[in-house]
Amino acid sequence: MSDRSVLITGAGNGLGAEIARAAAAAGWIVGVLDRDLEAAARTAASIGAEAIALGADTTDEAQVGAAFDEFAARTGHPAPDGLVANAGIVRFGPLLDLDVDDWRRVVDVNLTGTFITARSFARRVVDAGRSGAIVTLTSMNGVAAGPNAGAYGATKAGVALLTTQLALEWGPLGIRANAVAPGLIDAGMSGPIYADAEIRRLRSERVPIGRLGTGADVASVVLFLLSDEAAYVSGTELLVDGGVTGSVISTLPRPRSVDSVGPGGRADDGADR
Ligand SMILES: NC(=O)c1ccc[n+]([C@@H]2O[C@H](COP(=O)([O-])OP(=O)(O)OC[C@H]3O[C@@H](n4cnc5c(N)ncnc54)[C@H](O)[C@@H]3O)[C@@H](O)[C@H]2O)c1
Repeated sequence: MSDRSVLITGAGNGLGAEIARAAAAAGWIVGVLDRDLEAAARTAASIGAEAIALGADTTDEAQVGAAFDEFAARTGHPAPDGLVANAGIVRFGPLLDLDVDDWRRVVDVNLTGTFITARSFARRVVDAGRSGAIVTLTSMNGVAAGPNAGAYGATKAGVALLTTQLALEWGPLGIRANAVAPGLIDAGMSGPIYADAEIRRLRSERVPIGRLGTGADVASVVLFLLSDEAAYVSGTELLVDGGVTGSVISTLPRPRSVDSVGPGGRADDGADR
């Protein structure tokens, strides 16, 4: 059995499940935590003996603590080596009409739940005299505003800053913390968007590398940040978006003279494009 373990929240479905399967394939013992225990059990069963299903709501500190304790008892590790704080939700609606309860629940799960889980992890790592790595899941939506995204983008920007603060406060304790910000991903909560073939095509065309992302694209970056290969990486947010977040200027109307600047930086007046 592997001597490295990682607990992944929201791993009953979507990206968390994909990350759990990739982590197990890379040799990690995996704690598959979800508020939906049946979903967690399904993910764990798809992995096998290296996975342990855990039921907890990440907004409830007592439930999260009990899940960490159960994982410790079943792995024999007083603290896991890694945490992927992946559990997140979105509730859409225009801000003018958004129900405040929807706003609060998204803040609670995405921001407060990430804090609760990260602190439960860090306390155990410190008590065990070990080191550890945290990866949080943010979003391109925390970098660029999206219409009708409610509290989602604000919470993801908050998680990005929280992750930097974790790196700052806990780096001296031996804990690295980094965020992964997925872009247009054809999986999990975005899956229904891409059931529409025309939306798929149009969005794929907007990504500089020409395709939507997959759960595997996200999982491999999460695993890199958990690993010793990233031993000197902390406090950063890594966009996994094929370049789309940074491409906004290309969507703006431009005068032809800008498009006809030649390789030397001079306007190529003779060009007919
Ligand atoms: N899929 C995407 O396109 C995309 C893009 C950018 C960021 N993200 C982020 O990636 C993460 C995973 O998203 P996904 O697409 O896999 O979502 P998903 O809805 O497919 O899965 C989320 C899982 O988290 C669980 N969960 C939700 N709230 C929880 C809580 N309070 N406690 C425990 N478990 C809880 C759900 O039961 C579910 O199994 C989220 O943080 C999301 O914001 C996703």
